[in-house]
Amino acid sequence: MLGVCYYPEHWPQAWWPRDAARMKALGLTYVRIGEFAWSRIEPDPGRYDFGWLDRAIAVLGAAGLKVVLCTPTATPPKWLVDAHPDILPVDPGTGRVRGFGSRRHSDFSSETWLAEALRITSVLAERYGDNIFVVGWQTDNELCCHETTLSASSAAQTGFRRWLADRYGHIGALNTAWGNVFWSMEYRSFDEIELPVGAVTETSPAHRLAWRRYASDMVVRFHNATCAILRAHAPGRFITHNFIPMDETGVDNHALAAPLDFASYDNYPLGRADLAMARAAAADFAPFMRTGHPDMQAVLFDQTRGLTGQPFWVMEQQPGPVNWARHNPRPAPGMVRLWSWEAFAHGAAVVSFFRWRQVPFAQEQMHAGLLRPDSSEAEAWPEIALLAAELGQISLPEPTPAPAAIIVDIDAQYLSDIEAQGRDYDYIAVLHGWYRALRRLGVDVDFVAPGASVAGYKIVLAPALAMPDSLAVARLADTHALVVLGPRSGAKTRDLTIPDGLPPGALRALLPIRILSVETLRPDCPGSVSFNGQEFVSTSWRESLDAGDAQVLATYEDGSPALVRHGRAHYLATLTDDGFLAAFFTSLCAEADIAVTPLSGSLRLRRRGNLTFAINYGATTVTAPAPEGADFILGSRSIDPHDLAIWRTG
Ligand code: GAL
Repeated sequence: MLGVCYYPEHWPQAWWPRDAARMKALGLTYVRIGEFAWSRIEPDPGRYDFGWLDRAIAVLGAAGLKVVLCTPTATPPKWLVDAHPDILPVDPGTGRVRGFGSRRHSDFSSETWLAEALRITSVLAERYGDNIFVVGWQTDNELCCHETTLSASSAAQTGFRRWLADRYGHIGALNTAWGNVFWSMEYRSFDEIELPVGAVTETSPAHRLAWRRYASDMVVRFHNATCAILRAHAPGRFITHNFIPMDETGVDNHALAAPLDFASYDNYPLGRADLAMARAAAADFAPFMRTGHPDMQAVLFDQTRGLTGQPFWVMEQQPGPVNWARHNPRPAPGMVRLWSWEAFAHGAAVVSFFRWRQVPFAQEQMHAGLLRPDSSEAEAWPEIALLAAELGQISLPEPTPAPAAIIVDIDAQYLSDIEAQGRDYDYIAVLHGWYRALRRLGVDVDFVAPGASVAGYKIVLAPALAMPDSLAVARLADTHALVVLGPRSGAKTRDLTIPDGLPPGALRALLPIRILSVETLRPDCPGSVSFNGQEFVSTSWRESLDAGDAQVLATYEDGSPALVRHGRAHYLATLTDDGFLAAFFTSLCAEADIAVTPLSGSLRLRRRGNLTFAINYGATTVTAPAPEGADFILGSRSIDPHDLAIWRTG
């Protein structure tokens, strides 16, 4: 099903009925509203204006649309900021207060903020919780976007001290756990601890890790409380949130998603490609400039689905040029439909477009909508009409579990940020690289959190499982899957120190090995790794290890072990080129009895139930790798540029 993001408060009320009728005629089912409307809902402190929102919901509902209502906490109004300046966050980099005038100007540590946010949430939930047209709720909007997780406010400092006291109990325990004897960093009480900002040089890594975890907990606290209010007042309605990727929230997105019915994702393929490929050569970037990179959407669709294990929504789908990347090209014809189909292939239940009509004023006036500001149909309109018609013909089966799971680890991300050791080690890049390698073999992937069940998977990959707790270790020790641990797995204790007996610490329950030393290299001065008689590149991050009685599967240029195996567990001690990952994962899939379909160019595959989707991001026609006599339910064996085919596999 399809939907759209609508801002009734931006348009004359007289336009609403026609807008609603056109949405319905286009084949849209859902309309999301309200996420930035606090100043219209509560124009003055305690004075609510529900008239316009009542009417907007009634007009949309009467047209047959289902309303997703948002809590408006992403944009606290001016009067609230003036009355309580302490709700404003402080930029940890500059020490300056981040003021009013855009959005997300609130501090998750501020008790005043929390009380005010929960107050407006309660007011809305009480009024609309049982409204017949409101079928679900979105909490806030893109929590933590614009790098708003961390704040260096005094509220954060107070909260952090309290959080540390709860966690460590006694200051001596904290000093020992963090190793504060180093550089005379010892504290006499929790009240002496400041936020790890503004020091001369590097602050304690344990201190920074604790701050990241504290900040994550504050976001989760706010979100849990928001969801509890919605649950209490909105019986039978779903609750979701439109996530941005974990590397941008810096928050444990799995914890954030715990109270939700399902997770949503905001999909902006061209903006993302422009930013992520900013340093790529023109020849490498140009093929993706109007399509987005063929692996960048999928990895985030799969991660979003993994947050709750339920079909996800794309709450915002780019329909044309955006306004916020370095450059903002138009999508190639067909791509808006293709991105949407790709989301459905990866288990989406709904794709909702951002936004209905391009707004002629304010910050996003250059951002495309489904309509132009004069209400004429913009470029994506016919693609969405086609998509709606196609969806009407095809019934999508429930998403099925993939054969392979990748563990996505917020602690590995924190470790990568806090202790880079080599500037080319980037956990997110490693995670995406391993995902890409499986996907280019045509293998579907699920993402799971450390400690989540991995029952049923044939292979389980942890590109880095940095500081696993006992549950995470037990899950891997118990599984029947082939397990692969990447470099930096078990590298640290929970307090970011080197574990007793050397890394991989507790993961020695799986493999009897010891990491003896680590070197990082410039990527243009790599070493090599030899595997199954072939030479590959060993780059950037290289660990030397004592293999114990583990079997050595690959070696460095000096013959020392680079990949070892014990039982069903593998430890890969180096970052490598894509060629190595392809060769290694191909052999794993063969052993695990997972069929592979090596893919080249811009074709990608995804299965959903008994349907296989072949998605062609490329500019040339390709042949679908479908079996003889395949039953195509959309498209055909010959797939045009920027088009797809779907066939039934059983
Ligand atoms: C999203 C955000 C929307 C809008 C959009 C523009 O990240 O949730 O409110 O700003 O970007 O592309």
